[in-house]
Amino acid sequence: MDELKKIAGVTAAQYVKDGMTVGLGTGSTAYFFVEEIGRRVKEEGLSVVGVTTSSQTTAQAESLGIPLKSADDIDVIDVTVDGADEVDPNFNGIKGGGGALLMEKIVATPTKDYIWVVDESKLVDTLGAFKLPVEVVQYGSERLLRVFEAKGYKPAFRQVNGKRFVTDMGNFIIDLDLGKIADADALANELDHTVGVVEHGLFNGMVNKVIVAGKDGVQILESDK
Ligand code: 5RP
Repeated sequence: MDELKKIAGVTAAQYVKDGMTVGLGTGSTAYFFVEEIGRRVKEEGLSVVGVTTSSQTTAQAESLGIPLKSADDIDVIDVTVDGADEVDPNFNGIKGGGGALLMEKIVATPTKDYIWVVDESKLVDTLGAFKLPVEVVQYGSERLLRVFEAKGYKPAFRQVNGKRFVTDMGNFIIDLDLGKIADADALANELDHTVGVVEHGLFNGMVNKVIVAGKDGVQILESDK
C-alpha cells in the first residue's frame, strides 16, 4: 500500500514547477509528495514556496528545507496536492481522517490546481462508509453531539489515547457514522449552517485532478469544471 501511495505522491509532484506557491497536504499519501518536493528543492534547486495544511506537514517541510509561507500571506496558490479518505465519481470527497480538514480547506480554497493523491481503495460510488469528520468549537460541543444524535448521524468525539483529539486550530472533531450520504451537497449545506461547526470534511466538487495509484498503474481523473 505504501508503494502505491508513493507512486501517487511522486506522480503529483510533476505538476510543480519553478516559482510556484504550493499547498502541501497532510496524511500518509501526501507525505510522499512533500518528500519529493523536498528532494527536488535539495537536489535540483527547485524554487517554490510551500503553504502547509497541518503542524505535522509544517514539521516535515521544515525538516526538508522547503521555504514556507502562512496562508495569511498569500492570495493564490498555484497547485495543492493532498490526500483524501473517499472520492466519488462526481469529484466529491471526504477528508479529515488525519484531523486537518480545516487547514486543508483553507489551503484548497485559493488553489488554482487542486489535486488529490489516493490509492484505488479510496474510490467509492457513494460517500459515507468513511466516518465524516466535523470540526466543532469546544464550547457547546456536547450539545451539538446530542443534536447530531437526534438526527441519527451516530456521532462520536474523536479520541486519541483516551483523550479528546484537539485539532491544530484548538477545536474538537465529531465523526459522523452515516453509512451512505444520499445528498452530499445538501449535507454540506446543512453543516455549513450549523452554529458551532467550524468546518466539515465534505470537499464537494473542489478537486481538479485525482491521481489514483492501483495495482495496474496510475490513472489521472480530471474534472471538467
Ligand atoms: C488529513 C486528511 C488526509 O489527507 C486523508 O485522511 C488521507 O490520508 P491518507 O493519505 O493517510 O489515507 O484529510 O486530514
